[in-house]
Amino acid sequence: MKVSSSIENLVPYKPGKPIEETKRELGLSEVTKLASNENALGVSQKVVEAISQAAHEIHRYPDPSCHKLTHKVASHYNMSAKKLAFGNGSNEVIDLLIRIFCEPDDNIVTSKAAFVAYKVCATAARVHVKEAPMTEDLRFDLEKIKQLCEEHKPKIVFIANPNNPTGTYLTKTELFEFVESQKNKTDQLIVIDEAYFEFVRAEDAPNALELLDSYQNVAVIRTFSKVFGLAGLRLGALFAHEKILDYYNRVRNPFNVNSLSQAGALAALDDKDYLKASQDMVWSGLDYFYKELQDMGVAYWPSQANFVLIDVKKNAVSVYEELLKLGIILRPVNNYGFESLLRLSVGTHDENQKAIQALKTVLKK
Ligand SMILES: Cc1ncc(COP(=O)(O)O)c(C=O)c1O
Repeated sequence: MKVSSSIENLVPYKPGKPIEETKRELGLSEVTKLASNENALGVSQKVVEAISQAAHEIHRYPDPSCHKLTHKVASHYNMSAKKLAFGNGSNEVIDLLIRIFCEPDDNIVTSKAAFVAYKVCATAARVHVKEAPMTEDLRFDLEKIKQLCEEHKPKIVFIANPNNPTGTYLTKTELFEFVESQKNKTDQLIVIDEAYFEFVRAEDAPNALELLDSYQNVAVIRTFSKVFGLAGLRLGALFAHEKILDYYNRVRNPFNVNSLSQAGALAALDDKDYLKASQDMVWSGLDYFYKELQDMGVAYWPSQANFVLIDVKKNAVSVYEELLKLGIILRPVNNYGFESLLRLSVGTHDENQKAIQALKTVLKK
């Protein structure tokens, strides 16, 4: 069967290498995975209990409106419930926004080395992706993005803040000035993806939800996969103007958020100790990495997320393969055009130490 050339040439999203596969292929009994920006704290016990309870009802369809969850998430983020909808992970939200607002041969604009899902979802929808170069310090270059917007009249501009895989961020002043500059473009949606919002420590970083009352062409994405530790349940949130949500709710599968996911997220929002422990683990883990990397003379980009991008100054895929043999899975980012960079997610302190030890061994060779 013939498919369109965009599907034929589509490079699929490549997730981090699974632990079991690594054990099997390399005959290892112990493997540490710091490759997928997951929450290394493990699952909140409150979430496990809520899901066990909800399991007794899985013969029924889930609540298609996510009524309880909508109200709880809205109050958690101090937003109106009318401005909120959910997706099967924020990946589905990205996919649906493209399907709603773009026709084949339309454009989206983002940055080079922006989170790869924007490109994958757009290409799958036969939508062209125009990427602005990054600044030298691997941040989104909003001036270049503005130029692309003028030139290509995109239907959507995607901004990941902080960005994955760079961990870099735009300040509140930079982002808000950009949004203001685009306010008359009523046919252009600016999607601000704040998947790592809770891990941000920079005091000058924005909370993009503050933009929603003033700008109807802005949408904000958050996820339950990171600080809440629910990556396996698949839950993402979309905050936007009611008109956008109206389209979103027409297009989405009515049962896109399953009942275990809804129950788990409700419990996660109540487990404040878990949320604080997640943040503390990530912040102390990053500080530990920074100190060790400095001692090793390995360059890195200070990160506002739960991972750090490092420069191994040689072919990063070979370093990744050497690390695999030592039972450490990191993430090469050659698919983003970075040949010598590796992304290292924060794990438990023990996992972080193992990763640093293995890096020392491999980089000494
Ligand atoms: C910037 C960014 N946005 C969105 C996602 C997708 O998250 P999920 O689909 O698990 O909600 C990720 C995942 O790593 C990410 O890094």
